[in-house]
Amino acid sequence: MTPISLPVSVAVIGTGLLGRGICACLLGADIQVVAVDKNADQLASARSAIGAMIADLHSHGACSQETLQRWESCYTESQNFEAIKDCDFVIECVSEDLKIKEAVIQQIEGVVRTSTIICSNTSSIPITQMQGFMTHPSRFLGMHWAGPAHNTRFIELIRGESTSDACFQATNALSLRIGKDPCLCQKDIPAFIVNRLAYSMYREALNLLESGVADCETIDRAVRNSIGLWASFCGPFRWIDISGGPQLYASVMERVFPTLNNTASLPQPIAALVQAGAHGTNSGNGFYNYGPEDAELWNKRFEEHVWHMTKLGDALS
Ligand SMILES: NC(=O)c1ccc[n+]([C@@H]2O[C@H](COP(=O)([O-])OP(=O)(O)OC[C@H]3O[C@@H](n4cnc5c(N)ncnc54)[C@H](O)[C@@H]3O)[C@@H](O)[C@H]2O)c1
Repeated sequence: MTPISLPVSVAVIGTGLLGRGICACLLGADIQVVAVDKNADQLASARSAIGAMIADLHSHGACSQETLQRWESCYTESQNFEAIKDCDFVIECVSEDLKIKEAVIQQIEGVVRTSTIICSNTSSIPITQMQGFMTHPSRFLGMHWAGPAHNTRFIELIRGESTSDACFQATNALSLRIGKDPCLCQKDIPAFIVNRLAYSMYREALNLLESGVADCETIDRAVRNSIGLWASFCGPFRWIDISGGPQLYASVMERVFPTLNNTASLPQPIAALVQAGAHGTNSGNGFYNYGPEDAELWNKRFEEHVWHMTKLGDALS
């Protein structure tokens, strides 16, 4: 078998919330990064955010002192796609809008070599649909990250209809090299693996709320203390095996499945919040109300939790 060659230089297109974390993750693993964004302010704020994330990696023992000191010499930023022409791997991470992604992917293809692998960090756009507007679609696949991208273990790789095995394997190898625990999604299904599971839960949570079974706080607490406990330890299949077994679960499924919500329309509790302009901690209103310092407090708590879970995940694997 031909050994898989790892990229030396990776381009990240879009340095917003996710893109900057992706840059930090790659730089923290000593990979050269060329970042492109159409917006100069985003590039400037990304640079300082990347510095803070690499310091975070270092303070948790996830990158060396040398990496912390020299990352800026491995990092180039530009508003011009020409800057990525020599990169051997590209991660597209611009806004979740098909038209924008189409234009960006064509710009990428216009400058890089035909051997360069191109990935999209889309959360929901089918990979095969994006391959439809490419000249060389076999080098394209989904590489779905989760925030905070610099230190979560999650990456989901999605094969489009024309994705080559070689590109899929090379992207898997890169993901392992940067400390991720990649999940391979062999079919191009809307929302891939993890968001399908998450959205099934959101729908049922909204159904419980709308039906008056319990309030938000109660439902949140129930999830944290039960599903939240075992899901941080193992997945649903292992959980079925170790907590009663398939026969027990099958009998419960036969009773419960017909009662679960399967609406395709937006449930009323979230539709009402959309009407009220709710952006959660960003606007102070969501399923809960937030004061001026609450957004920062929840961010901080989440950051600490992610490190705790990342280290626990490393220990369990
Ligand atoms: N935010 C998340 O938690 C999350 C999680 C997983 C995947 N994603 C996916 O990652 C992608 C980016 O999401 P985000 O939250 O970082 O978005 P964002 O809005 O924070 O950042 C998008 C960036 O793309 C840049 N951009 C837009 N058009 C461009 C163009 N034509 N050329 C160059 N740069 C351009 C913008 O200036 C901005 O900096 C989306 O596809 C999203 O679905 C997001």
